[in-house]
Amino acid sequence: MKTRVFSGMQPSGNLHIGNYLGALKNWVRIQHDYDCIFCIVDLHAVTVYQEPRELRAKIREIAALYLAAGIDPKVSAIMVQSSVAAHAELAWMLTCVTPVGWLERMTQYKAKAAKQESVGDGLLQYPVLMAADILLYQAGIVPVGEDQAQHLELTRDIAQRFNTLYGETFVVPETSLPTVGARIMGLDDPMQKMSKSASGAHHAVALLDPPDRIRKTIMRATTDSQPSVDMDSAGPGVLNLLAIYQAFCGWSDEQMRSHFQGMRYGDLKKQVAEMVVSQLEPFQQRYGQIVSEPGYLDAILRDGAARVAPVAEETVRLTKERMGLF
Ligand code: TYM
Repeated sequence: MKTRVFSGMQPSGNLHIGNYLGALKNWVRIQHDYDCIFCIVDLHAVTVYQEPRELRAKIREIAALYLAAGIDPKVSAIMVQSSVAAHAELAWMLTCVTPVGWLERMTQYKAKAAKQESVGDGLLQYPVLMAADILLYQAGIVPVGEDQAQHLELTRDIAQRFNTLYGETFVVPETSLPTVGARIMGLDDPMQKMSKSASGAHHAVALLDPPDRIRKTIMRATTDSQPSVDMDSAGPGVLNLLAIYQAFCGWSDEQMRSHFQGMRYGDLKKQVAEMVVSQLEPFQQRYGQIVSEPGYLDAILRDGAARVAPVAEETVRLTKERMGLF
């Protein structure tokens, strides 16, 4: 039996090249080697207020982006988190074995909570729901970007704690990070992670940005006071541009060095911009085709939920049995 893979993205904000290079590109690469479930985690999105109509549209947009990136729905299940009630059910059971101190230590919680006047309980519970997503399907591998590594450690801790308390129940999952592109930084500020929620107009390249906008954002990217690339002393802005290029084209470090060493920043930016435009153009064409077929996406999401539901139900049954629930 193939090892199960589970991963997901929140339908909040616009997916960007960080999401693609950190996670989605890897999903496409490994989908034939594993039994994969790719989820649109709408219950996570509502930990921060979402306008309902926009959220509904966003869920479909993310599903279409998974397909446009090359996820094959005949091979992998694509599903919406809230369409399988077991995610929320297992999350409660895991909440009951999770010390609140573990949750308060999460850096994403601290960063998000600092931005809110009143912090919803869902924001604190967020990583427990994420653990439930993964443990529900007994996933062995979770391909994510680096910012999710801490949540994955917590998932492992929760699984181990449950297994110790109640007996072997959950597979303890491994985190899988890409070698290049695990942490793409903001183009306007290379000290900040590229993020869906950042407000700067030139912060991120969204997967559906038109070519002229992509070029403008990359040409304005923050670099440093040097005139040209020095691979041995490059600052974070230049390293970020190089990482974007390398993650898209898959070159080795040696190829990168021999191509970019000594190149003026203006030329580096032009080359990065053309690489991103050329990679996203076919992607955007496929996206256009997918959304133009009425009913296609809904059928895929229904099928995905139906395929995964028996696995989820079996895990809930086992967990309830282990805990002595009715
Ligand atoms: P989300 O929606 O914030 O991000 C989706 C994926 O994109 C990766 N990512 C990045 N990778 C590289 N550079 C960046 N700047 C960057 N920004 C985001 C993320 O690491 C992630 O892999 N909590 C998760 C969603 C989730 C999940 C799960 C993931 C819910 N349940 C179960 C895996 C398994 C999140 O908010 O991802």
